[in-house]
Amino acid sequence: MNQRLATGAATKPGRRQRHFGARRPVGAFEFLQRARDSATGIYTPESFTIDYGIRRLGLQRFVLLNHPDYIKHVLVTNHANYEKGRLTQKMLGPVLGQGLLTSEGALWRRQRRIAAPAFQHRRLTALTETMVDCAARMADRWQEPAAAGKAFDVANEMSVLTMEIVARTLFGSDITDRVGDLRGAIVDILRGFGQPNPMDLMGLPDWLPRRQDPDARRAMRRTNRLVSEILDNRRKAAADRPDLLGMLLAARDPETGEGMSDRQLRDEILTLFAAGHETTATGLTWTWYLLSEHPEVRAKLEAELDATLGGRTPAYADLEHMPYGRMVFEEALRLYPPAFSLSRVALAPDRVGPVRIRTGDLISISPYVTHRNPKLWPDPERFDPDRFLPEQTAARPKFAYFPFGGGPRICIGNNFAMIEARLALAVLAQRYRLSLAEGHPVVPYGRVTLRPRYGLKMRAEKRPAG
Ligand code: HEM
Repeated sequence: MNQRLATGAATKPGRRQRHFGARRPVGAFEFLQRARDSATGIYTPESFTIDYGIRRLGLQRFVLLNHPDYIKHVLVTNHANYEKGRLTQKMLGPVLGQGLLTSEGALWRRQRRIAAPAFQHRRLTALTETMVDCAARMADRWQEPAAAGKAFDVANEMSVLTMEIVARTLFGSDITDRVGDLRGAIVDILRGFGQPNPMDLMGLPDWLPRRQDPDARRAMRRTNRLVSEILDNRRKAAADRPDLLGMLLAARDPETGEGMSDRQLRDEILTLFAAGHETTATGLTWTWYLLSEHPEVRAKLEAELDATLGGRTPAYADLEHMPYGRMVFEEALRLYPPAFSLSRVALAPDRVGPVRIRTGDLISISPYVTHRNPKLWPDPERFDPDRFLPEQTAARPKFAYFPFGGGPRICIGNNFAMIEARLALAVLAQRYRLSLAEGHPVVPYGRVTLRPRYGLKMRAEKRPAG
């Protein structure tokens, strides 16, 4: 473990801790304004260097942890003392209800057990042909803008691609014609609900009225109708498909023999659509951006693709021969982790390193911050896939890098996402070279996921191998 990481009594945080490392004090109003604009706005480059920060906002105490040992303590060692809690519920509960991402305790354990087999390695490898097919069809659609030299929004394209992959692989083919509708509705919902309400951040009581976005409410009703349709269609088809939807429908409570309620099914379906497409899409979007800014990395990736595939369509078995593609995606997830911040609430007092945790403290664990900690990542802003060479990975503490979280609540789609992204990258980078459209501003924007604020306008140029 890195010796330079500070320890010491922290029951009385110093000024640096109280302002998350900022050089000057940041008042509550400014803090809230920054958080409201973009959730990453509350961090300054100095925040990346502190091991922890503690600040108060109204009735709420926030503890930011930025040391691998402290992060491991909360996510793994003493995870039972930390719930996802109020803020997650407030932000995502109205949309995702009691699905896997938001539920707790016995309900979460049961649902995770039911869903887990759909993400086993053996099952995932059976899905890879569909993943490749979706990416290949997207590559075909790019022919026209590529030939015309027309710029298009790669962020949007990646979202279309990953949504189609989730729809076809996890929910069977019966909804492919509704994927566009559902994606639009989910995007509208996340726009409306996807940021913490300042009143919740300050810990104000629930009975105080909060403003609600009417567009997001309408999108929610549309989504509920679409999800009911998915369920009805599958039930009418009376088909026992071995996909995730089939598993959710077939699950029975061992004690009562009852199946899941329609409400629970709705929550799980929506959770998997929302959690399963936007994250991978933004991870891929940042990868394209980084590749266009680093031609030397792109050339190395293209050389690996050409040497391994020689122009043919990739298959799952090729992945082990293309480690550089994995390293590129891992490094993109380091600099721009789509799930940039995880929050937990302390159920009882605890001690994390030097920090005395109180009941009700809101713990913030941010891959965005820790992945930029210069004590863990030399020259952290530099894009360098070689950081993920096996010997370099082995030399780092495990919780220096956690784009998928950790402990029992680790992302269930972790391996799904890695396979999907690497295959999509292989299919598309083999056929096209993407370059940022001149003058297009690229600004990270933290709202549920970390995405480029203005999308990502790029031009595609056909490669000779494609
Ligand atoms: C690059 C892509 C992805 C990233 C970066 C990502 C990140 C994460 C993170 C950090 C968590 C943990 C949140 C916490 O502890 O508070 C999580 C949970 C989750 N993710 Fe992902 N995810 C990705 C792709 C996927 C995919 C493809 C699926 C499904 C198809 C998925 C489904 C879920 C679900 C259901 C949970 C909740 C798990 C639980 O609490 O039991 N994710 N994800």
